[in-house]
Amino acid sequence: MRTARTLGMGSRVPISSWYPRPHGREGEIREGFLSAEELALLAEGRAPRIRLSPRALADATALAHGAYTPLRGFLGREAWGTVAHEMRLPDGTLWPIPIGLAPLEEEVKALGGAEEALLLDPSGAPVGQLVLEEVYRVDPLVEAERVYGTTDPSHPGVVRTLEEGPFRVAGGVRLVLRDSGILTPLEVRSEAGRRGWRRMAGFQTRNPLHRAHEYLTKVALEVTDGLLLHPLVGETKEDDVPAEVRLECYRVLLDFYYPRRRVILSGFPAPMRYAGPREAILHAICRKNYGCTHFVVGRDHAGVGSYYGPFDAHRLLETHEEEIGIELLYFDNAFWCRRCQSMATEKTCPHGREERVSLSGTRVRALLSRGEAPPPEVTRPEVAEVLLRAVAGWDGGRRDG
Ligand code: ADX
Repeated sequence: MRTARTLGMGSRVPISSWYPRPHGREGEIREGFLSAEELALLAEGRAPRIRLSPRALADATALAHGAYTPLRGFLGREAWGTVAHEMRLPDGTLWPIPIGLAPLEEEVKALGGAEEALLLDPSGAPVGQLVLEEVYRVDPLVEAERVYGTTDPSHPGVVRTLEEGPFRVAGGVRLVLRDSGILTPLEVRSEAGRRGWRRMAGFQTRNPLHRAHEYLTKVALEVTDGLLLHPLVGETKEDDVPAEVRLECYRVLLDFYYPRRRVILSGFPAPMRYAGPREAILHAICRKNYGCTHFVVGRDHAGVGSYYGPFDAHRLLETHEEEIGIELLYFDNAFWCRRCQSMATEKTCPHGREERVSLSGTRVRALLSRGEAPPPEVTRPEVAEVLLRAVAGWDGGRRDG
């Protein structure tokens, strides 16, 4: 029913063809959705309520879609410990980040003895059900240290973890499916199968695509049949470009510079944690669940500030390649070279740094906020136009407000 809704086609392609086996022992993706009627019944009853933060709602969505396979719900105490300390689920499966649900203290009191809870979105509207398994306490500082490698509250992922406090609730998640246009792993697999692809490269991003990103995706496309352009659309930090604006950037870029039949563009519902190397493992595992046979990992993947070395993620992934089970495409720093007159990396370009055109995200933001487009060697003019319009809108809003 849902596949037909989203993709306008018939039956799903069976999981057993060329697709990589989903992560975990079971090797099967199960979606966790409930109907609007079931939700209404739950909301009318006395089930305790848990209001989800934007990060928890994004995690719940990724769980319900099956993106976090083999996880079906928020982790319990034992798994929290093995994941935080050993990057493994209790059955030994590689899993890098404890996906926990942190209720408020007053919500915890109401959970005693209940078998299920009603999940509310950040505005208080009912969105789903949690089948309650366990309530437990953790030390958020330990989680921060293990997952992010720092307890510094200026790290945007760490501050969220510290704000969550010590309580966690474990249990299976079912959400009402929103018609958000975001394809689930089963739907992406089905669409890739329909297009006849046998090798699909996944590309994670939380930014508008600049020339370096474009270069990576196109090199990946040269060695595969299709690209899953998979921008993260869950919670990001305040100064990242909002998902709606980014989606417009991706659309114009695809319209002007990619063969459309070679690209599936869809959102990745998870939140951004900025956990660098550990999050790179999560990103690769999830894209395997979506059916990718290849996954791009460039410079400072999922990093922020200078918390991680530019190639720390490569090093951690290299030691887990077999378990991740898909081809990881590692990229050096990419830039435009004036002498080569093309995009390049240190691997492919012999010229000096003075020949390179590349701007940091901060420099690009500074240009845009002055109403100036970044140079075309950094950002395609069509993308710059979308960004300039969006920035003008934000500034106008601030002035009006
Ligand atoms: S991320 O947080 O999602 O990793 P971003 O959207 O900037 O951030 O990056 C998407 C992917 O492109 C990541 O794999 C990242 O490592 C890679 N990347 C971004 N810029 C460059 C660059 N200049 N050179 C090489 N890789 C890059």
